[in-house]
Amino acid sequence: MKKYDIRKICCIGAGYVGGPTMAVFAKYCPNITINVVDINKKRIDDWNSNNPLNFPIFEPGLDKLILSFRDKNLFFTTDLEKSISEADMVFISVNTPTKTKGVGAGKASDLKWVEASARQIAEFSKSHTIVVEKSTLPVKTAETIKNILSSSQDISSVDKKTFSVLSNPEFLSEGNAINDLQYPDRVLIGGEDESSINALSNLYLNWVPEKKILKTNIWSSELSKLTANAFLAQRISSINSISALCEVTGADIKQVSKAIGMDTRIGRKFLASGPGFGGSCFQKDILNLIYLCNYYKLDEVANYWKGVIDINNWQKERISKIIVNNLFGNVSGKKIAILGFAFKANTNDTRESPSISICQDLIEEGAHIAIYDPKVENSKIEDDFKKLNKINFEQCRVNWEICSSIQEAALESDAIVVLTEWQEFLYIDWKSLINSMRKPAWLFDTRSCIDHNKAKNVGFNVWEIGNSVSINKY
Ligand code: UDX
Ligand code: UDX
Repeated sequence: MKKYDIRKICCIGAGYVGGPTMAVFAKYCPNITINVVDINKKRIDDWNSNNPLNFPIFEPGLDKLILSFRDKNLFFTTDLEKSISEADMVFISVNTPTKTKGVGAGKASDLKWVEASARQIAEFSKSHTIVVEKSTLPVKTAETIKNILSSSQDISSVDKKTFSVLSNPEFLSEGNAINDLQYPDRVLIGGEDESSINALSNLYLNWVPEKKILKTNIWSSELSKLTANAFLAQRISSINSISALCEVTGADIKQVSKAIGMDTRIGRKFLASGPGFGGSCFQKDILNLIYLCNYYKLDEVANYWKGVIDINNWQKERISKIIVNNLFGNVSGKKIAILGFAFKANTNDTRESPSISICQDLIEEGAHIAIYDPKVENSKIEDDFKKLNKINFEQCRVNWEICSSIQEAALESDAIVVLTEWQEFLYIDWKSLINSMRKPAWLFDTRSCIDHNKAKNVGFNVWEIGNSVSINKY
């Protein structure tokens, strides 16, 4: 069997996946030079900034890694041609959003960036290159990549370019990415060429125990990634569906989660009820699964997974309605403080954040929204609102503001809605906050993360997800 010696790596895409993943590779593979490339020059400049606050991604522990290894064996650059031509292994970590138009719109992933990456690798590579799919991709994408690459293999040329394609999906959860990358539950490598699989596996062996490295065929690897995300999302939709039942029956979702989670067959993780799952992966991957099932005429299977997305959308809408109903069925002209815009705590990512659609619903109802998030940049919030199709951005600009503190958001508001479980929200001084609000003052805790007794004791009416007894009388 051939043995490939990996000395240089190129990673196309310096985003939430490429940046943290390559930082961890740099730490554990000190003898390998890693070039992370991106078409977005500003992103690369930000990664190269001397001030970690300018790094494009907030991820606990990432800044330390970047500062330790950048310009030693980790480089951020826009020089794609040079990086590919020197690389023995190229990771594709570009984004793959759901298509908005054309065949498969609303379900299939848009693979134009992946295809572009494959074409660039085909053009610029020299000799043998191992191409690794890191982005989450629809099953059979490796086939497309292989076709593009093989069409560039010119057997008459002196260069003798050859390729092998591996699937090595990321399982990092934002906010915990560095930990997930350093101590993964498993590393999945799918492929056909044993020598290439071993070359990648040998890199991981620098920090991952061998028993955690799982080698499969390429289609199993691609499908396992989609399935893992679909299962995780399904758990959240399941617990969210039960949260609604708790609210009307007098059960408490936290107690139910704890009780079922102690069954080792179920397990305790991913049972926190909330405003619905967000993030760049869950919805997109389930939509991909649905598209695939429909393609193979497995409509019952497709409908089963569609239910997971339907409940997720319903949960978000349900929360907007609960807020409006409790504020006497009318929020027109009322100020509502939104605490948290990121899709979960410890990230500045807002992709598919439930906050976006809940804010949109409340704006549509005529409320004035005051948003505070400790890490999300103002420009990101603006961009998210611009993309909404239900509201006219210019017309609605007066209906929302971005605040730089919890106090500013709460000032003269009628309600506080906690949408992201940021640590600092756990230590709010409810007494001083309620003094600055209109009465009756409401707290809607969609993450069930606040100590309600403290808020109730100073006079808040509290609504908590999955808990019918939390509401105080006015
Ligand atoms: C990831 C995964 O790779 C994707 O499969 C997953 O489903 C969503 O998350 P992520 O790293 O989070 O992508 O995306 P993003 O932060 O948008 O980063 C992608 C980067 O690739 C961007 O910086 C973009 O500029 C870059 N890019 C895109 C290129 O460098 N070249 C391209 O041709 C296209
Ligand atoms: C996910 C997967 O976990 C990761 O393995 C994959 O590769 C990328 O997608 P991520 O989207 O970063 O990671 O975050 P995750 O922690 O999975 O949370 C996704 C969403 O589910 C968030 O909106 C989160 O708030 C929500 N969630 C999670 C809940 O509502 N309840 C829970 O118990 C867990």
